[in-house]
Amino acid sequence: MITSLLKDTKEDIKKAAEIIASGGLVAFPTETVYGLGADALNADAVSKVYAAKGRPSDNPMIVHISSTDDIPKLTDEITADMKTLMDAFWPGPMTMIVNRKPIIPDVTTGGLDTVGIRMPDNETARLLIEMSGCPIAAPSANLSGKPSPTTYKHVVEDLEGRIDAIIMSGDCEVGIESTVIDMTGETPMILRPGGITKQMIEGTLGKEILLDPTLNKRPDLFNNNLKPKAPGMKYKHYAPEAKVVLYDGEPKEVLGAMQSEKKRLESEGKKVSLIFFDKGEDKKAAHELFARLRLADSENADFILVNTLAEEGLGFSVMNRMLKSAGYNIKKI
Ligand code: TXA
Ligand code: MG
Repeated sequence: MITSLLKDTKEDIKKAAEIIASGGLVAFPTETVYGLGADALNADAVSKVYAAKGRPSDNPMIVHISSTDDIPKLTDEITADMKTLMDAFWPGPMTMIVNRKPIIPDVTTGGLDTVGIRMPDNETARLLIEMSGCPIAAPSANLSGKPSPTTYKHVVEDLEGRIDAIIMSGDCEVGIESTVIDMTGETPMILRPGGITKQMIEGTLGKEILLDPTLNKRPDLFNNNLKPKAPGMKYKHYAPEAKVVLYDGEPKEVLGAMQSEKKRLESEGKKVSLIFFDKGEDKKAAHELFARLRLADSENADFILVNTLAEEGLGFSVMNRMLKSAGYNIKKI
């Protein structure tokens, strides 16, 4: 398949919208990561997304909307908490899981009775949805298992020749995926931490919310049988080709340990990439992490050494990705 490379002009977004409306696949920018879009209500189109990514079919897709007017098409429920969160965080990096209407095909929701809805804060994305005339199902536009794409070039690397078009736009601002929050229970529960933190949500709702218990259980430390509620959270994820090792401890000592390990490995003829974020650089870490992992791969690194962040606020969300990309391989310094 020949993949058209489109610009983020109105004219080209219109072309992209026509491809979506006629059942094709288009990668497009959002403020979190690039998404691979298809008409969410067209089962054949959505099936092609799974095939292009090599994605397991039980992993549901997030449905993207351009206006809150689109919500009644997808669900009958708009609770007071949902309304409060929408007003505060949409458009933006927050996905709400709600009970779905039957019009949404099973392939889109991986057979679940619920659907994840998000209104992205990226004008190209919203214009694309609006011009397509349908809600757009979109996972991150990477091959399954790879770090999510935060530049259009990452998408070209993974998906050129596998999809109809890629919109070449700017780099994604947030850099990690949206916060997924389950709104179907009595108390909202975060299933995937992201750009909107637990503290921000609690501050807005004026009450405590829950975290999926699996988010605090590391498979290396706990022999547990807990199953995450977001099916995608159980898969191997964000894995570059190089082996990733996390370094945890006081920043100064950690940096020293990373540098001496780099020297040691290099003396054995290995290629090593260092990724170090200072205290307080959580935003920068979110913005850069995936791109740095991909860069190390493009430089044929054998090892990527990364320092941990404090697991608070946005740091908790970034650490969730770091731990997965390292296969939970942590060195305590
Ligand atoms: O920022 C984002 O969310 C990006 C951009 C493109 O919007 N999208 C994204 O999609 O990260 P994806 O498919 O890579 O991740 C979606 C996550 C998966 O872990 C999936 O299992 C979970 O959301 N999810 C989707 N629908 C769900 C549902 N109905 N119930 C539980 N989890 C759901
Ligand atoms: Mg993904």
